[in-house]
Amino acid sequence: MSVLAGRSVLVTAGGTREPIDAVRFVGNRSSGRMGTALAAEARRRGADVTLIAANLSVEPPAGVEVVEAPTAADLARETLRRADSDVVLMTAAVADYRPASPIEGKRGKDDRPWQLELEPTEDVLRALTAATANGRVVVGFAAETGVDGLERARTKRTSKKVDLLVYNDVGDPDIGFESSENEVVILSDEGERHVRRAPKERIAAEILDDVERLLGRHGGATD
Ligand code: CTP
Repeated sequence: MSVLAGRSVLVTAGGTREPIDAVRFVGNRSSGRMGTALAAEARRRGADVTLIAANLSVEPPAGVEVVEAPTAADLARETLRRADSDVVLMTAAVADYRPASPIEGKRGKDDRPWQLELEPTEDVLRALTAATANGRVVVGFAAETGVDGLERARTKRTSKKVDLLVYNDVGDPDIGFESSENEVVILSDEGERHVRRAPKERIAAEILDDVERLLGRHGGATD
Protein backbone atom coordinates (compact mmCIF):
# COMPACT_ATOMS: atom_id res chain seq x y z
CA MET A 1 0.00 0.00 0.00
CA SER A 2 1.20 3.51 -0.77
CA VAL A 3 2.59 5.58 2.11
CA LEU A 4 0.19 8.26 0.86
CA ALA A 5 -2.92 6.18 1.53
CA GLY A 6 -5.13 7.98 4.03
CA ARG A 7 -2.80 11.00 4.18
CA SER A 8 -4.02 14.57 3.63
CA VAL A 9 -2.47 16.09 0.52
CA LEU A 10 -2.94 19.73 -0.38
CA VAL A 11 -2.18 20.86 -3.95
CA THR A 12 -2.30 24.45 -5.17
CA ALA A 13 -2.65 24.78 -8.93
CA GLY A 14 -3.17 27.30 -11.72
CA GLY A 15 -2.29 30.95 -11.76
CA THR A 16 -3.75 33.75 -9.66
CA ARG A 17 -5.45 36.80 -11.21
CA GLU A 18 -5.17 40.12 -9.43
CA PRO A 19 -7.96 42.57 -10.29
CA ILE A 20 -7.10 45.91 -11.91
CA ASP A 21 -10.77 46.84 -12.30
CA ALA A 22 -14.05 44.96 -12.75
CA VAL A 23 -12.97 43.39 -16.05
CA ARG A 24 -9.14 43.44 -16.12
CA PHE A 25 -6.51 41.57 -14.17
CA VAL A 26 -2.78 40.94 -13.81
CA GLY A 27 -2.28 37.23 -14.50
CA ASN A 28 0.12 34.61 -15.76
CA ARG A 29 0.23 31.67 -18.17
CA SER A 30 -0.03 28.79 -15.72
CA SER A 31 -2.69 26.28 -16.86
CA GLY A 32 -2.85 24.11 -13.74
CA ARG A 33 -1.86 20.93 -15.62
CA MET A 34 1.06 20.01 -13.33
CA GLY A 35 -1.04 20.55 -10.20
CA THR A 36 -4.04 18.61 -11.46
CA ALA A 37 -1.72 15.75 -12.54
CA LEU A 38 -0.27 15.67 -9.00
CA ALA A 39 -3.75 15.77 -7.43
CA ALA A 40 -4.92 12.89 -9.66
CA GLU A 41 -1.86 10.77 -8.89
CA ALA A 42 -2.04 11.42 -5.13
CA ARG A 43 -5.72 10.42 -5.22
CA ARG A 44 -4.83 7.27 -7.17
CA ARG A 45 -2.40 6.40 -4.36
CA GLY A 46 -5.22 6.68 -1.83
CA ALA A 47 -4.58 10.15 -0.41
CA ASP A 48 -7.28 12.50 0.79
CA VAL A 49 -6.68 15.35 -1.69
CA THR A 50 -7.68 19.02 -1.59
CA LEU A 51 -7.00 21.10 -4.70
CA ILE A 52 -6.73 24.86 -4.19
CA ALA A 53 -7.67 25.99 -7.69
CA ALA A 54 -6.56 29.34 -9.12
CA ASN A 55 -8.30 29.81 -12.49
CA LEU A 56 -7.60 26.35 -13.91
CA SER A 57 -7.79 25.96 -17.67
CA VAL A 58 -8.10 22.18 -17.30
CA GLU A 59 -10.71 20.04 -15.52
CA PRO A 60 -9.88 19.09 -11.93
CA PRO A 61 -9.62 15.31 -11.39
CA ALA A 62 -12.52 13.32 -9.96
CA GLY A 63 -12.48 12.41 -6.29
CA VAL A 64 -10.64 15.47 -4.98
CA GLU A 65 -12.08 18.37 -3.02
CA VAL A 66 -11.79 21.57 -5.09
CA VAL A 67 -11.56 24.97 -3.38
CA GLU A 68 -11.63 27.98 -5.72
CA ALA A 69 -8.96 30.59 -4.95
CA PRO A 70 -8.76 33.12 -7.79
CA THR A 71 -6.43 35.68 -6.18
CA ALA A 72 -3.15 35.46 -4.24
CA ALA A 73 -4.99 36.55 -1.08
CA ASP A 74 -7.62 33.79 -1.53
CA LEU A 75 -4.89 31.23 -2.17
CA ALA A 76 -2.92 32.32 0.91
CA ARG A 77 -6.01 32.12 3.15
CA GLU A 78 -7.20 28.72 1.88
CA THR A 79 -3.71 27.19 1.95
CA LEU A 80 -2.64 28.49 5.36
CA ARG A 81 -5.86 27.33 7.00
CA ARG A 82 -4.90 23.80 5.88
CA ALA A 83 -1.23 24.13 6.91
CA ASP A 84 -1.42 20.91 8.93
CA SER A 85 -1.83 18.74 5.81
CA ASP A 86 0.64 15.83 5.65
CA VAL A 87 1.87 16.92 2.22
CA VAL A 88 1.69 20.35 0.56
CA LEU A 89 2.48 20.69 -3.15
CA MET A 90 2.71 24.35 -4.18
CA THR A 91 2.48 24.23 -7.97
CA ALA A 92 0.37 27.39 -8.29
CA ALA A 93 1.92 30.42 -9.97
CA VAL A 94 1.07 32.96 -7.28
CA ALA A 95 1.29 36.63 -8.29
CA ASP A 96 4.17 38.35 -6.50
CA TYR A 97 2.46 41.73 -6.97
CA ARG A 98 -1.12 42.95 -7.17
CA PRO A 99 -2.65 46.32 -8.13
CA ALA A 100 -2.52 48.44 -4.97
CA SER A 101 -5.90 50.10 -5.53
CA PRO A 102 -8.21 48.03 -7.74
CA ILE A 103 -10.90 50.17 -9.35
CA GLU A 104 -14.55 49.45 -8.65
CA GLY A 105 -16.38 49.16 -11.96
CA LYS A 106 -14.59 49.47 -15.29
CA ARG A 107 -12.07 52.17 -16.15
CA GLY A 108 -13.08 53.93 -19.37
CA LYS A 109 -10.66 54.98 -22.11
CA ASP A 110 -9.19 58.48 -22.39
CA ASP A 111 -6.04 59.97 -23.90
CA ARG A 112 -3.97 59.99 -20.73
CA PRO A 113 -1.42 57.29 -19.89
CA TRP A 114 -2.46 54.88 -17.15
CA GLN A 115 0.04 54.05 -14.48
CA LEU A 116 -0.61 51.09 -12.23
CA GLU A 117 0.88 50.81 -8.78
CA LEU A 118 1.57 47.24 -7.68
CA GLU A 119 2.07 46.08 -4.12
CA PRO A 120 3.73 42.82 -3.00
CA THR A 121 1.56 39.84 -2.05
CA GLU A 122 2.28 37.40 0.75
CA ASP A 123 4.72 34.57 -0.07
CA VAL A 124 2.51 31.63 0.84
CA LEU A 125 5.27 29.04 0.78
CA ARG A 126 7.46 31.10 3.08
CA ALA A 127 4.56 31.67 5.50
CA LEU A 128 3.85 27.94 5.47
CA THR A 129 7.38 26.77 6.19
CA ALA A 130 8.01 29.49 8.78
CA ALA A 131 5.73 27.55 11.12
CA THR A 132 7.33 24.21 11.97
CA ALA A 133 5.27 21.08 11.59
CA ASN A 134 6.86 17.74 12.34
CA GLY A 135 6.68 15.13 9.66
CA ARG A 136 5.02 17.29 7.04
CA VAL A 137 6.48 17.29 3.51
CA VAL A 138 6.40 20.61 1.63
CA VAL A 139 7.19 20.80 -2.08
CA GLY A 140 7.93 24.07 -3.87
CA PHE A 141 8.17 24.69 -7.60
CA ALA A 142 10.49 27.06 -9.38
CA ALA A 143 9.71 28.17 -12.90
CA GLU A 144 12.86 29.83 -14.15
CA THR A 145 14.45 30.83 -17.43
CA GLY A 146 18.02 31.04 -18.64
CA VAL A 147 21.38 29.59 -17.75
CA ASP A 148 21.25 30.69 -14.10
CA GLY A 149 17.87 29.02 -13.57
CA LEU A 150 19.13 25.95 -11.72
CA GLU A 151 21.32 28.07 -9.50
CA ARG A 152 18.33 30.27 -8.57
CA ALA A 153 16.31 27.13 -7.86
CA ARG A 154 19.04 25.94 -5.45
CA THR A 155 18.84 29.23 -3.60
CA LYS A 156 15.03 29.04 -3.51
CA ARG A 157 15.11 25.54 -1.98
CA THR A 158 17.13 26.68 1.01
CA SER A 159 15.62 30.15 1.43
CA LYS A 160 12.01 28.87 1.27
CA LYS A 161 12.91 25.89 3.52
CA VAL A 162 11.09 23.30 1.43
CA ASP A 163 11.75 19.55 1.58
CA LEU A 164 11.70 19.25 -2.21
CA LEU A 165 12.07 21.94 -4.86
CA VAL A 166 10.99 21.05 -8.38
CA TYR A 167 12.80 23.15 -10.96
CA ASN A 168 11.68 23.58 -14.54
CA ASP A 169 12.94 25.79 -17.31
CA VAL A 170 9.94 27.70 -18.64
CA GLY A 171 12.09 29.34 -21.29
CA ASP A 172 11.81 26.12 -23.31
CA PRO A 173 8.49 26.35 -25.24
CA ASP A 174 8.09 22.55 -25.46
CA ILE A 175 7.78 22.12 -21.71
CA GLY A 176 6.25 23.96 -18.78
CA PHE A 177 3.20 26.25 -18.71
CA GLU A 178 0.57 25.28 -21.32
CA SER A 179 2.44 22.18 -22.46
CA SER A 180 1.33 18.62 -21.65
CA GLU A 181 4.96 17.62 -21.06
CA ASN A 182 7.56 18.71 -18.58
CA GLU A 183 11.19 18.08 -17.71
CA VAL A 184 12.35 18.83 -14.20
CA VAL A 185 15.14 18.61 -11.67
CA ILE A 186 14.04 17.60 -8.17
CA LEU A 187 16.28 19.17 -5.52
CA SER A 188 16.45 17.89 -1.96
CA ASP A 189 18.86 17.55 0.95
CA GLU A 190 20.13 14.41 -0.72
CA GLY A 191 21.05 16.02 -4.01
CA GLU A 192 19.53 16.66 -7.42
CA ARG A 193 17.58 14.22 -9.57
CA HIS A 194 16.96 14.97 -13.23
CA VAL A 195 13.64 13.66 -14.59
CA ARG A 196 13.70 13.42 -18.38
CA ARG A 197 11.01 14.96 -20.57
CA ALA A 198 7.74 13.11 -20.10
CA PRO A 199 3.98 13.72 -19.88
CA LYS A 200 3.07 15.69 -16.75
CA GLU A 201 1.31 12.57 -15.37
CA ARG A 202 4.66 10.73 -15.40
CA ILE A 203 6.47 13.70 -13.83
CA ALA A 204 3.78 13.81 -11.11
CA ALA A 205 4.42 10.13 -10.31
CA GLU A 206 8.17 10.78 -10.03
CA ILE A 207 7.62 13.71 -7.66
CA LEU A 208 5.23 11.68 -5.49
CA ASP A 209 7.73 8.78 -5.36
CA ASP A 210 10.17 11.22 -3.72
CA VAL A 211 7.44 12.56 -1.41
CA GLU A 212 6.66 8.98 -0.33
CA ARG A 213 10.33 8.31 0.42
CA LEU A 214 10.44 11.40 2.68
CA LEU A 215 7.14 10.60 4.38
CA GLY A 216 8.32 7.05 5.03
CA ARG A 217 11.50 8.38 6.58
CA HIS A 218 9.62 10.86 8.77
CA GLY A 219 8.22 7.86 10.48
CA GLY A 220 5.39 7.54 8.48
CA ALA A 221 3.38 4.68 7.20
CA THR A 222 -0.12 4.69 8.64
CA ASP A 223 -0.24 0.89 8.73
N1 CTP B 1 5.02 31.11 -4.12
C1 CTP B 1 4.16 31.37 -3.06
N2 CTP B 1 3.70 32.64 -2.86
C2 CTP B 1 4.06 33.65 -3.67
C3 CTP B 1 4.95 33.39 -4.75
C4 CTP B 1 5.41 32.11 -4.94
O1 CTP B 1 3.82 30.44 -2.33
N3 CTP B 1 3.57 34.86 -3.46
C5 CTP B 1 5.52 29.72 -4.30
C6 CTP B 1 5.14 29.09 -5.63
O2 CTP B 1 3.91 28.42 -5.56
C7 CTP B 1 6.29 28.12 -5.87
C8 CTP B 1 7.46 28.80 -5.20
O3 CTP B 1 6.91 29.75 -4.28
O4 CTP B 1 6.07 26.87 -5.28
C9 CTP B 1 8.40 29.51 -6.10
O5 CTP B 1 7.71 30.43 -6.88
P1 CTP B 1 8.48 31.45 -7.80
O6 CTP B 1 7.50 32.35 -8.45
O7 CTP B 1 9.46 30.71 -8.65
O8 CTP B 1 9.34 32.21 -6.68
P2 CTP B 1 9.34 33.67 -6.19
O9 CTP B 1 9.56 33.64 -4.72
O10 CTP B 1 8.16 34.39 -6.69
O11 CTP B 1 10.69 34.20 -6.83
P3 CTP B 1 10.95 35.00 -8.17
O12 CTP B 1 9.64 35.36 -8.79
O13 CTP B 1 11.75 36.17 -7.70
O14 CTP B 1 11.79 34.07 -9.03
